[in-house]
Amino acid sequence: MSVNAKLQSRVDGIINELTVSQEILNKGVDFFIKSAEKGLDNKDNDPYGLPMIPTYVTSIPTGKERGVLLAADLGGTNFRVCSVSLNGDHTFIIKQEKNPIPVDLMSANSADELFEYLAKKIGQFVNTHHGDQASESKSDDNKLKLGFTFSFPVDQTSLDSGTLIRWTKGFNIEDCVGKDIVQLLQSHLDLLKIPVSVAALANDTVGTLLSRAYSAGAVAGDKQGDTLVGAIFGTGTNGAYPELIDNIKKLPKNYVDELKSKGKTHMVINTEWGSFDNHLEVLPTTKYDVEIDKISANPGYHMFEKRVSGMFLGEILRHILVDLYREGLILQQYRSYENLPHRLRTPWELSSEILSYIEIDDSTALKASELALLNALRLPTTHEERIIIQQLTIAIAKRAAYLGAIPFAGLLLKTKALEGHNKEVDIGVDGSLVEFYPGFRAMLRDALSMTKVGNQGERRVHINIAKDGSGVGAALCTLSD
Ligand code: BGC
Repeated sequence: MSVNAKLQSRVDGIINELTVSQEILNKGVDFFIKSAEKGLDNKDNDPYGLPMIPTYVTSIPTGKERGVLLAADLGGTNFRVCSVSLNGDHTFIIKQEKNPIPVDLMSANSADELFEYLAKKIGQFVNTHHGDQASESKSDDNKLKLGFTFSFPVDQTSLDSGTLIRWTKGFNIEDCVGKDIVQLLQSHLDLLKIPVSVAALANDTVGTLLSRAYSAGAVAGDKQGDTLVGAIFGTGTNGAYPELIDNIKKLPKNYVDELKSKGKTHMVINTEWGSFDNHLEVLPTTKYDVEIDKISANPGYHMFEKRVSGMFLGEILRHILVDLYREGLILQQYRSYENLPHRLRTPWELSSEILSYIEIDDSTALKASELALLNALRLPTTHEERIIIQQLTIAIAKRAAYLGAIPFAGLLLKTKALEGHNKEVDIGVDGSLVEFYPGFRAMLRDALSMTKVGNQGERRVHINIAKDGSGVGAALCTLSD
């Protein structure tokens, strides 16, 4: 089956714009390192710069930690409450309940509506799983300790306090911005008389880093090098890594001295790399990226995330398809835009899960994709249309994975983690794209080897899934001193 030449040439043009060359990768890595250094400096007041947020976590787990701790995790789409038993031998037992976040709460009128819901869910979990402890009245010291994973940019002021800088992903509750997230949750727990004390606030990437560092070595040979990065490629994307305290110029000098007197050398930094290159100096930009930024909840911010994370991949494809329709190249049985299937006209309706089916469809005439598109968008397609939809899907996902290699390479080079005899590096990752999107990790690795990390360096980097990382990691955070 060959595609009409005019359509194919237009699609080739789009694919070309989506292609990330070695030159873009190298420029991107250099610029990432520069942005990271600027972000660590207190002189950089650019709100669009790379945030590089100190997390006040100054120790990395060894795997010997023990205890039973609670964790709650507000991510992109779910709120999870869990109880984690750390066995002290790199293993843990986790009991958890997952609650989908009601869509209206994501843009509620007030922060109280969201935090009351979160406190109630924690209360229900405690009653079910820790009923004995919950029924006794508790002094502050005896309350159950909870680590709170909050997967949004927070200006952290200590291990258990921090104010929301801005919402990302689908969230938008204006009166929450600038408020202390721990206080908000604690006040609602107290109002509902739930005997839980929020002992640590952690980004999901920090949780992923700590949880992977704890688990590495559970199976003999499973730990190859120290864990350098915890990263998420899911609804959003971000990464955290331990940085030398001396390099974090924005920490007050007396605080740095105090840490050093306690023998501390590193602090985990939440890079918020979703906001890498908000000024678009190196990132490839198509007109579809511009359109999507405009309709997003945070225009002008998280420009890297809008090209890389799961929330946006389907939306990019949807915009391209509508554009090709408008140019008279596909779906011409529909007389006008208004006649197109409703779901094809609805933002955020096409999920990256559908793209993952299309990506590896090798069925006759792409019948599996036909079905997936019918189910997801009620969109009938011809074989020719499916051929170009698959070509576009592959190009969108490849751009995402290739760009995903930039912060990894940046951090590997900046920290010199691969320098030294036979050094190896462990990276913990979590999120739907790295877990489920076919070939995402492999493509990211291909791009990593094209950067200055090189083939040899890429072989020494071990990217492992940190399953349930953010929950376990938040629990581990409550033990950080
Ligand atoms: C948030 C980060 C988070 C990431 C992955 C981004 O949108 O800004 O804080 O770590 O999503 O969940």
